[in-house]
Amino acid sequence: MSSAPSAASTAPSTVELSAAPDRATAAERAEQLFVESFGYAPDGVWSAPGRVNIIGEHVDYQDGLCLPMAISHRCFAAAARTPTDRLRVRSAQSGTTLDIDARELTPETVSGWPAYVAGVLWALGPRISGASTRGMDIMIDGQVPLGAGLSSSAALECAAAEAIEALLTLGTGPLDRVRAAITAETDFAGASTGGLDQSASVLAREGHALLLDCRDFSTRAVPWDLASQGLALLITDTRAEHSHVDGEYTARRADSERAARTLGLATLRDADPDRLESLLARIDDEVVRRRAHHVITEIGRVEEVDALLAAGSVRSQVAEIGALLNASHDSLREDYEVTVPQLDVAVDAARAAGAHGARMTGGGFGGSTIALVEAEQAQRVAEAIAAAFAEHGFDAPEFFLALPSEGAGQDR
Ligand code: GLA
Repeated sequence: MSSAPSAASTAPSTVELSAAPDRATAAERAEQLFVESFGYAPDGVWSAPGRVNIIGEHVDYQDGLCLPMAISHRCFAAAARTPTDRLRVRSAQSGTTLDIDARELTPETVSGWPAYVAGVLWALGPRISGASTRGMDIMIDGQVPLGAGLSSSAALECAAAEAIEALLTLGTGPLDRVRAAITAETDFAGASTGGLDQSASVLAREGHALLLDCRDFSTRAVPWDLASQGLALLITDTRAEHSHVDGEYTARRADSERAARTLGLATLRDADPDRLESLLARIDDEVVRRRAHHVITEIGRVEEVDALLAAGSVRSQVAEIGALLNASHDSLREDYEVTVPQLDVAVDAARAAGAHGARMTGGGFGGSTIALVEAEQAQRVAEAIAAAFAEHGFDAPEFFLALPSEGAGQDR
């Protein structure tokens, strides 16, 4: 990959680091939008955040460990129960609406973004008593940037799950809602993802990262309060076209499953990292071998970051954590092959501009990168990335500062 150009000449003079809108104001807006659209007041407003994954990429579907955090951008759902069986869903961001008999939901009946809402009601269907109506009106106001790899669809599903639970009193716990959101995505919307995004959106805690064990979806909050330590996580939305993303994602999953089968393991989580070389030697296919190398070493890197954070603060361990973020990206670039030039250029430029570590985050093939930086240098690093993009002739990226935020819940 080309090395980052110096932050000199082409840096646009006004690189903006945007923050999410204030949560209380945004919730009030969602309520207002509901009133304007449906003509009466909602029963409440619920919301769920987008996420970045700090480390542990492309391991969730191999029962691995991930370390995501929720970001401050959220999806809001203002909603009311109605004495009918109609599910009506509208959104401030899209002209597409849904108006359907909620008793007749099947994966074939709904397409586009409303499937992520309807799918949750469908997934929770077995919990709804036959005698009760399941009609509701929902107004969605999504503020997680779309197509940026920050899990706007998981935020939508999880906001819907909170609203549906509150309106129908189904007795679900947070993990049930995570599972309903995953089912909505995989079985209703038809995107075969691994559960990282929904877990982060529901279970994340403010000021913390979430250590997620995808074997059983158990979690532990890990202190990750960057702001109080003079650090920041800079998100760069590369705005690279996601081309062939679904097919490539499915192909990577298939490669990793093949690796596990070859090794006689249920998943690569069961691989003993101390026997890495001898295990890899048993995989003839060179590509599949590299895929396994990524998954097994990436799970090890999450364990290392967790151990570092148990032994000290992010500040005291920042060099080691940064090196692990860098190693994660390099593995995703070389072994897993899910990066695109924009992701690599953003990462290289951030490192050259002094980031402690930088990597792509999420599924790859476009989307966003994260850089762990000194808070006072965030602007400078962003400008260096913008300059590198201009020099490569890429579309201008967008920048956000990510604060570790609270998972899904009720706002009003
Ligand atoms: C996407 C999927 C997740 C996970 C990541 C890669 O975000 O939705 O389930 O597999 O890619 O870590």
